[in-house]
Amino acid sequence: MLQGKNVLLAVSAGIAAYKSVFLCRLLIKKGANVKVLMTPHSANFITPLTFSTLSKNPVYLDYFDEKDGSWNNHVELAKWADFFLLAPATANTLSKMANGLCDNVLLATYLSMSNPVFIAPAMDLDMYQHPAIKDNLKKLESFGHSIIPAEKGELASGLEGEGRMAEPEHIITYLEGKLNSRSPLKGKRILITAGPTYEAIDPVRFLGNRSSGKMGYALASEAMKLGADVHLISGPSKLDQLKGLASFSAVESAEEMFKSVKDLQEEAEIIIMSAAVSDYSPITQANQKIKKSSEKLGIELKKNPDILQWLGENKKEGQKLIGFALETHEEEKHAKDKLKRKKLDMIVLNSLNDQGAGFDSAKNQVTLFFKKQEAKSFPLKDKSLVARDILNEIQQFYD
Ligand code: CTP
Repeated sequence: MLQGKNVLLAVSAGIAAYKSVFLCRLLIKKGANVKVLMTPHSANFITPLTFSTLSKNPVYLDYFDEKDGSWNNHVELAKWADFFLLAPATANTLSKMANGLCDNVLLATYLSMSNPVFIAPAMDLDMYQHPAIKDNLKKLESFGHSIIPAEKGELASGLEGEGRMAEPEHIITYLEGKLNSRSPLKGKRILITAGPTYEAIDPVRFLGNRSSGKMGYALASEAMKLGADVHLISGPSKLDQLKGLASFSAVESAEEMFKSVKDLQEEAEIIIMSAAVSDYSPITQANQKIKKSSEKLGIELKKNPDILQWLGENKKEGQKLIGFALETHEEEKHAKDKLKRKKLDMIVLNSLNDQGAGFDSAKNQVTLFFKKQEAKSFPLKDKSLVARDILNEIQQFYD
């Protein structure tokens, strides 16, 4: 469950901060990407260098980077994170969080989080039992955050009792359990198509398009993080093969993609057609390279199967179908028409009119149209974040 997850490990000023070094290592061993936030006083217990060396990322201690004076964007950090883990959570920091105080970059980032927050308290016996702390922990729980219970044992003060931060291994087990049970996509079979299709003209030439496959691969990768069984069918793409897929089919033409989709359609609970399927292909393919001779050369094309249309017509009970639309004019009208005509639950409209978005770009700007609800527009953002927005909406089909 932690493989590929983006984790913000937030460290406040308690002696248990030394255990967070092990926690950081364990998260990384599990395949998570870790960025560490520290309160200024926590650096009295453990150095930022320890965390930056382990995490291979800069450590965020202040709003400004001391070296070059650049601003540490807490909103971007919060958006990047799949979850926020405060360990150790001191009485001071957790109480500030419960009451919306914001006097350091760790707290500002926390207040910008929309993804899950986990809190591992660490304090002395009487502090942990104090009604103010108990109230604040309850308040944090009422925000939907998870409290990882402190453990019993010898405390730094020499006292024995409850208040020790949970052992790093126990925190990992706790996180895996929680993340596993959280997503409605857990265990769901999702079929995703990605990339372009190439339609052969002769053995060396083809008709194709500029799709890179980035959007479909981002959807597959984010869906896996949510525990889904992802089957990816990809047209020709230069992207690295994804690890952890339930199956991967490399196809070239629209016909091949159609065949692979048909093989997996019946069992799929969710199908996302993000591939840029060629609408036409040459009627005949030359067996040998076409030599240049005449001044003009015509290639006669035939219509390819509309895979999404077929999926709509053959939709299984309860199956969710998501299509993409790439339009250059009357975008909303065309997208809504496709949504209806192809019996989709959602259509993702990307507009070629948006600067910096679309084919072969790392970013995308989308509007989502639904069968049953109002459309939602999102700003230009990285395709992995767009993928999360799309999957968030799909998760809500199951609420
Ligand atoms: N699609 C498909 N099979 C095709 C062409 C497209 O399954 N032969 C799917 C794409 O994967 C995408 C959606 O249809 O999810 C929309 O593709 P787009 O090219 O925008 O629209 P078309 O439906 O082909 O319609 P038009 O060309 O008229 O805009």
